[in-house]
Amino acid sequence: NQSFEKAERIRACKNRRHVTLVTAYDYPTGRLLDEAGVDIVLVGDSLGMVVLGFPDTTHVTLDHMLHHVEATARGVKNAMLVGDMPIHSYDTVEQAVQSAKKLFLAGADAVKLEGGAAQAGNIRAIVEAGIPVVGHIGLLPQKVLEEGGYKIKGKSSAEEEALVRDVEAVAEAGACAVVVEGVTPHAARQVTVHSSIPTLGIGSGSHTCDGDVVVIHDLVGAFPWFIPAFVKPRADVAGSMTAAVKEWMEDCYTEPGSISS
Ligand code: KIV
Ligand code: NA
Repeated sequence: NQSFEKAERIRACKNRRHVTLVTAYDYPTGRLLDEAGVDIVLVGDSLGMVVLGFPDTTHVTLDHMLHHVEATARGVKNAMLVGDMPIHSYDTVEQAVQSAKKLFLAGADAVKLEGGAAQAGNIRAIVEAGIPVVGHIGLLPQKVLEEGGYKIKGKSSAEEEALVRDVEAVAEAGACAVVVEGVTPHAARQVTVHSSIPTLGIGSGSHTCDGDVVVIHDLVGAFPWFIPAFVKPRADVAGSMTAAVKEWMEDCYTEPGSISS
């Protein structure tokens, strides 16, 4: 099937070609990214923060994700479309497979779930059900409440070794690629060297992984209230929108022929 072929094409990029992953949450963004030629479009559960206005991703439900995967899928043709599995949608193997099937039917080519060695069983079961999987190791945003904040991983050699075991377990379980979030640049290099599948870095140093991940709102300056330090915004969408609205309001108030008292 076509999703499986897309996943194999991403896997085959290892040691060959850099991979790009950008998030989208709706039809126009998905279509623009697809037409721009990105390799992977991710409907991330960052949805909760940059689109739905929650303080973190622990508020996102499977129904939220299905709604936005369906919309984004209508705009994505060539890229591999990945849908995030939200918190508590993969608490058991049975639930993981059911949730993955729903995301797949909503239009995702693959699903992504957070965790390394601990998630190997879920990853293997989803892949065996015929649905490609992208792993996600390092800083796991769904654990923010448990861990009391966002903590960079891989600072000690013990943590670095655990990350290498995580990436090996995720690859061995059948994932076609793995996001490496919030790890030290040195750990990101170690993980990448030991990984048989492409590592996709975010907040893990520059040029340390096989590919790069960015949240679209960070990239284009569409969420000005919080911009991660590791992102260089390439546009000022929030500024442009505010300026357009203000200019339009001025015209509304001053346009000749308008009725005013
Ligand atoms: O939800 C998301 O946007 C993500 C990426 C940061 C990898 O998981
Ligand atoms: Na996510």
